[in-house]
Amino acid sequence: MSALVHVLDHPLIQHKLTLLRQKETSTNGFRQLVNEVSMLMAYEITRDMPMQTITIETPLQTMQSRVIDGKKIVLASILRAGNGLLDGMLQVVPSARVGHIGLYRDPNTLQAVEYYFKMPQGMHERDVIVLDPMLATGNSAVAAVTRLKQTQPKSIRFGCLVACPEGIAQFHRHHPDVPIFTPVIDEGLNDHGYIVPGLGDAGDRIFGTR
Ligand code: URA
Repeated sequence: MSALVHVLDHPLIQHKLTLLRQKETSTNGFRQLVNEVSMLMAYEITRDMPMQTITIETPLQTMQSRVIDGKKIVLASILRAGNGLLDGMLQVVPSARVGHIGLYRDPNTLQAVEYYFKMPQGMHERDVIVLDPMLATGNSAVAAVTRLKQTQPKSIRFGCLVACPEGIAQFHRHHPDVPIFTPVIDEGLNDHGYIVPGLGDAGDRIFGTR
């Protein structure tokens, strides 16, 4: 597997993912678990974020200490399921900015069409974490990152809850420079484009729309 795919195999993440997959898990439970997993994922995804050294005063003396510039981080949610990953990540990086990318699939061309795109100003100095729970066909992730690159951010990372080989291949065919962070790589896609074994429709399970 490419060095650009980071499998987040921390036991806490894996445990919560198992609970997420179970079909009996309620909407409330699912949402809570997504919050917890995304918070834990944020630790891993931000692991190599650039830091700066500032001068601070402890009660005893002056020292140089390192900080991450949270304001430079943009959490870019692919609507709508990506929104489910925002709260947990914002608990860890509360000063992050939030962007939204809305795409739908044209039923005739099957291409992703943008209906909404809003990012903060000054993207050239920001590190972006694109969020979508399921990296399935990879088509919307590819389209989202293609659009995002037009804003020329300093860096882009992609985070999801479940990936599959087809989605990873498609994503890296178009964006070999963008690392993927995922707790798991499942078997593959079924005929309806769902990841198996997967966890079902992430948006429906987060928002209780089924
Ligand atoms: N989107 C989902 O929500 N689930 C899948 O398995 C695939 C795409």
